[in-house]
Amino acid sequence: MIKGGNRLEGNISVSGAKNSALKLMAAAILGDSKSILQGVPKIRDVFTMIEVLNRLGIRAEFKEDDQLVIDPSGKISCEASYDLISQMRASIVVLGPLLAKLGEARVAMPGGCNIGSRKIDLHLRGFESLGAQIDMGQGYIQAKADILVGTPVLLAFPSVGATENLMMAAVKAKGVTIIENAAREPEIVDLANFLNSMGADIEGAGTSSIKVQGVTTLKGTKYRVIPDRIEAGTFLIACAISKGNVIVENACPEHLGMVLRKLRDAGFDIQEQDASVRIIADTRPKAVDIATLPYPGFPTDLQAQMMTLLSLADGTSVITENIFENRFVFVSEINKMGSNIRTQGQHAVIEGVEQIEGARVRCPDLRAGAGLILAGLAAKGTTEVEEIGHVERGYEKFEQKLNRLGADIQKVSEEIKETAKAASEFVGGSEKG
Ligand code: EPU
Repeated sequence: MIKGGNRLEGNISVSGAKNSALKLMAAAILGDSKSILQGVPKIRDVFTMIEVLNRLGIRAEFKEDDQLVIDPSGKISCEASYDLISQMRASIVVLGPLLAKLGEARVAMPGGCNIGSRKIDLHLRGFESLGAQIDMGQGYIQAKADILVGTPVLLAFPSVGATENLMMAAVKAKGVTIIENAAREPEIVDLANFLNSMGADIEGAGTSSIKVQGVTTLKGTKYRVIPDRIEAGTFLIACAISKGNVIVENACPEHLGMVLRKLRDAGFDIQEQDASVRIIADTRPKAVDIATLPYPGFPTDLQAQMMTLLSLADGTSVITENIFENRFVFVSEINKMGSNIRTQGQHAVIEGVEQIEGARVRCPDLRAGAGLILAGLAAKGTTEVEEIGHVERGYEKFEQKLNRLGADIQKVSEEIKETAKAASEFVGGSEKG
């Protein structure tokens, strides 16, 4: 339940990056000894990945505060079952490390999700190029290789997951693998840095050509996860929408290039420091056009939050979603709050309105959920956002952090809502009676 209208002010610190932490956790499988990951966010997806590792026979647990210890030195199973993979698609990234370490992996097919069909053909073709035999059947992907041999691999699209899975499969392959048209996201660089600190030999991460020279052994290491650029961007947009003044700390401004540029284009004062970004927002946003693209383009994971902001802009904006086909599903929800957005294929036309109103809305997925919560901050009256479990998959202490900045958000369980509803019906009934 969000009471809208409060101005956000103060300092907030960003947690470690979800989309990096999950991959580093998978990469830790490759070590002969335990790794310590620092700055791992305590979010639902991380706990799911801990469960995936534990079920593979790998001890993974939080020791103190944000330090996650992963010990892959025992006997490891090569199978990840459907009940886990279906909870979180990202667990597919255990395929590469299992194949590299055990010569075999059997992982349930992840299927699509609310934001798109999300194929994994590029991952599998890449493994085949390295010499693995891939078989599909009974809902499982089975990958086997007596030996993986380095080779050039040209990705048809710079897929984040395929680049990561291939890098992890190639680190122990015989010879050199060159991944061309590789994804360039900061999370790819973080994974390469982590693997290198385990003893791998990877060059070029962050460019579209990554060279992986195979090595024979990798050891455990201690490593700090990069800050979450999507969480940082979400707070900046939250501040913009509330006409606030906020310093977002533990952020990497260089990972936020296009996001900061678009916020400046929308008329906000953005000040970058070494590890923080300040936003001062005292005006209505100007209309801005946005196209989501692989990094360094505008991230698809901030598209919904930005659409919420632009729904209040002075003028008409166009957002083009180029990465996932279903990421506009939240438009019908936010339009319930009075925004004026229409979509055609991968384009959304956003006619800015002066004010939106609180309503009861439902999160279709993680980032759209964040977009709806941000809408609630700006709306007149109270907004009730349902199914916030999606948001808790990826944002650590989201409502607490926003409340610390001055928001008024309360987490209300279904049970409390039902009791409150019954009580109000009872009062209503007795009044009528
Ligand atoms: N694709 C294929 N074939 C493949 C792989 C991808 O067709 O083999 C397509 C996908 O269907 C999609 C596009 O390529 O349309 C992009 O997919 P990509 O592989 O780059 O994304 P991902 O690895 O599945 C990660 C993040 C997403 C983020 C995207 C793009 C994780 C766990 N997930 O997904 O994050 O949106 O990269 O930056 O790292 C989120 O955090 O909310 C989220 C969805």
